[in-house]
Amino acid sequence: MAKILVAEDERNLREGIAEAFRDAGHEVIEAEDGLAACRLVEDQVFDLVITDYKMPGADGLELIRRAAMVNEATAVIMITAYGTVESAVRAMRMGAYYYIQKPFNLEELELKADRALKHRRMMSRLAELDRREVVYRYDDIVGESPAMKRVFEIVSKVAPSNATVLVLGETGTGKELVAQAIHRNSTRRDGPFVKVNCAALPENLLESELFGHERGAFTGADRQRVGRFELASGGTLFLDEIGTMSAGTQAKVLRVLQEREFERLGGTRTIRADVRILAATNRDLEEAVETGEFREDLYYRLNVVTIRMPPLRERKEDIVPLARHFLQRFAFDLKKNIRGLSPAAIRVLQRHNWPGNIRELENTIERAVLMADGEVLEPEDLTLGGHGGEPGEERARRSSILRLPAEGIGLEELERMAIIEALKMNDWVQKDAAAFLGISSRVMNYKIQKYEITHPRWTRNRT
Ligand SMILES: Nc1ncnc2c1ncn2[C@@H]1O[C@H](COP(=O)(O)OP(=O)(O)OP(=O)(O)O)[C@@H](O)[C@H]1O
Ligand SMILES: [Mg+2]
Repeated sequence: MAKILVAEDERNLREGIAEAFRDAGHEVIEAEDGLAACRLVEDQVFDLVITDYKMPGADGLELIRRAAMVNEATAVIMITAYGTVESAVRAMRMGAYYYIQKPFNLEELELKADRALKHRRMMSRLAELDRREVVYRYDDIVGESPAMKRVFEIVSKVAPSNATVLVLGETGTGKELVAQAIHRNSTRRDGPFVKVNCAALPENLLESELFGHERGAFTGADRQRVGRFELASGGTLFLDEIGTMSAGTQAKVLRVLQEREFERLGGTRTIRADVRILAATNRDLEEAVETGEFREDLYYRLNVVTIRMPPLRERKEDIVPLARHFLQRFAFDLKKNIRGLSPAAIRVLQRHNWPGNIRELENTIERAVLMADGEVLEPEDLTLGGHGGEPGEERARRSSILRLPAEGIGLEELERMAIIEALKMNDWVQKDAAAFLGISSRVMNYKIQKYEITHPRWTRNRT
């Protein structure tokens, strides 16, 4: 059974088509004009859209464009009385692989629908395989922007070597993910991948963590301990948050990098370890070298190859693919039937500044999937924190946007959007949003009820 939208303004024809497909066991929804159809495809995911070319409100091409934004895989059949080659070609380009010329008989349409649905299933299977391919090669790293493609290129070139790699980038940009990808694509992939968070431990403990210690090396060392360098033997050691190591630890790490040997704390035996080193930090290491906080010689040892992870705001093309990737994962994990993002939700995601980068996007989508009721994520489902960034600037940039849709928009809908926007800009505090819009809290409250605006935070506070 497939979910089918029939958009056709000629009533008899529409009802005839709908009935035929219902009889064949499909779920059919009807739209009598272009606007109603557009609204439907933005709220729900259809397997197949059968649409007239000429309709009042919005034409078939506009409908295809919008349907494709929610779900690229939706199949489309265009019905046209204006069977010019030109409009058919345009429809093909927009994803309508089938068109049918008026007058036609229902069997002909059913045949095409069958084919379109089969095609769609094949396409989504291919897309699935495609994704697996990406997963295999880059270990679940999503990225279509030129900046990420460069990262993938460097990863695949440097992974097989034994070169030390320094991964730089802001918090949440995927530094650890890239380090793991390098390991998994190296000849050491069957060896261990061992991670040490250099920021989490005070100097003494960090050294014992890295190099291990002999029994009695210090108070409390009542047993011998094997360090991470030894544990990583035959594999990769990932030194995370390397910008915070003390001078003493830096000296010892430098020696391991130079000589590939070290001693356990309190020990005299020299241990050799066959370890590949990867390091990461969100600090500006060059600056730390200049101020003397980070050893220059260690910096050069680590910096054989540098991979700079671009912040998400500098690769906006990746926002939607990443959001879809997380959406799929969380919808599956949380067993929710959510299949896409509405165009409005996409706009909201693209406008955000993402100070917490991909981790922030991941958390946002997880929260949204958890909260959402519909099949498609809407802006109301997304709670984008005002944490980080420049709130003033963000506010100025956002509020300059008032572009009305070409097909017109109701004043009430506009008011609803303005209220949601004002709430968002004021952290969903109703009182502040009311002041922001120059209305009383009572009026604000009335409008919130009227437009049925909700936010998870409000219900939480009420209980
Ligand atoms: N390109 C990507 N594709 C898919 N998931 C990603 C991508 N980049 C990051 N992630 C996910 O985002 C989260 C943060 O990534 P990661 O821990 O690698 O960032 P980081 O740069 O090490 O951050 P920090 O500096 O805070 O340690 C992880 O859950 C990771 O799986
Ligand atoms: Mg990290």
